[in-house]
Amino acid sequence: MIEIKKNIFWTGIKDWEMRHFHGHELSTHRGTSYNSYLIKDEKTVLVDTVWDPFREEFVSKLERDVGLENIDMIVINHAEPDHGGSLGYLLDRLPSRGIPIYCTKNGAEIIKKHFNRDDMNFKVVKTGDTVNIGEYDLVFVEMQMLHWPDSMLTYVKGAATALSNDAFGQHYAGISLFNDEVDNCELYEEAMKYYANILAPFSPLIKKKIEQIREMNLPIEMIAPSHGVIWRKDPMQIIDKYYEWSLDYNEGHAIIIFDTMYNSTREMGKAIAEGLETRGIKVKLFNAANTDQSDLITEVFKAKAVIIGSCTVNNTVLRPTAGLLEEIRGHKFKGKIGAGFGSYGWSGEASKIISTTLEKAGFKVAQPPLSLKYRPDENELAQCRAFGEKIALEMSAL
Ligand code: FEO
Repeated sequence: MIEIKKNIFWTGIKDWEMRHFHGHELSTHRGTSYNSYLIKDEKTVLVDTVWDPFREEFVSKLERDVGLENIDMIVINHAEPDHGGSLGYLLDRLPSRGIPIYCTKNGAEIIKKHFNRDDMNFKVVKTGDTVNIGEYDLVFVEMQMLHWPDSMLTYVKGAATALSNDAFGQHYAGISLFNDEVDNCELYEEAMKYYANILAPFSPLIKKKIEQIREMNLPIEMIAPSHGVIWRKDPMQIIDKYYEWSLDYNEGHAIIIFDTMYNSTREMGKAIAEGLETRGIKVKLFNAANTDQSDLITEVFKAKAVIIGSCTVNNTVLRPTAGLLEEIRGHKFKGKIGAGFGSYGWSGEASKIISTTLEKAGFKVAQPPLSLKYRPDENELAQCRAFGEKIALEMSAL
């Protein structure tokens, strides 16, 4: 166990090998951690568990370092298996039955369904509910949809520490537990990827929640999430970042994501990039087929204009583009410009599908899709450059 604040200990697991999370949905190039915390006050409180493949290691360490018989209560901030997953195993290993489990109403429902057992002593809490544990009080703050309907934050009053669960986390097995002892470029890359891929669909709720937390005026000296490193130095920086990210965030540049069979759509994408650059817009290009899809979602999150191209195959887009479009649709990004392009041989549906999908996903799509037959010639490449210039003008106007 590592003491992170007086009598508050990290008792989690660093998963250095994790490379895909949520099944295979999300890439995690730098591993992750499942942060569980133990508060040793007059009452000994365990806050969250770890993902169930690590349950034995987790519970054995608790047994060695604390003694299972000494745990008086459990707080489950979030029932998703990466945090609540070891609860059933832990309860079975505890020497006595009926330990109180503090969670939200939704949390109790999910935990019951997950473990299918009726011997759990739930203490259902809502925002503002407080429990004294000795020197410290635990104040609960519901964080609905950050990340599931049951999510909550446990604020340790007296230690000015927010145990925030998924919020403010990163899938990052760092060299240290603390933000002031890790590479902050890595840390912010992972924090933003986490927000873009997991939390961005809930941005309007996040904005409101951060406003509510600010209004509660809780002194915050430390934010300890359930994944990645703990914000010990200037903890408000990540709250301020989340607020910024929740406001239709972009960094002002364009990205072009192309998917190609025989280079024509790649050539189109490069010519569109030239057009954008002519008008002073910075642009990055990605091949959808060989770029990690979670990283692409982060790039979409950062971009002001997202221009996607695929050649047409069997009356539709290529498979990587199809998956990417579906993921973009689910993320509900706001305040971005979109456009579709692509080469074709005879039917040419791909660019229209891209354009329509982006529009339905909430992008502002002003340019008609650009479709070119077979290989683009010089005149057609000039059309692509002009297409890029028009998008650049739109971006300046937005
Ligand atoms: Fe880290 Fe929503 O679980």
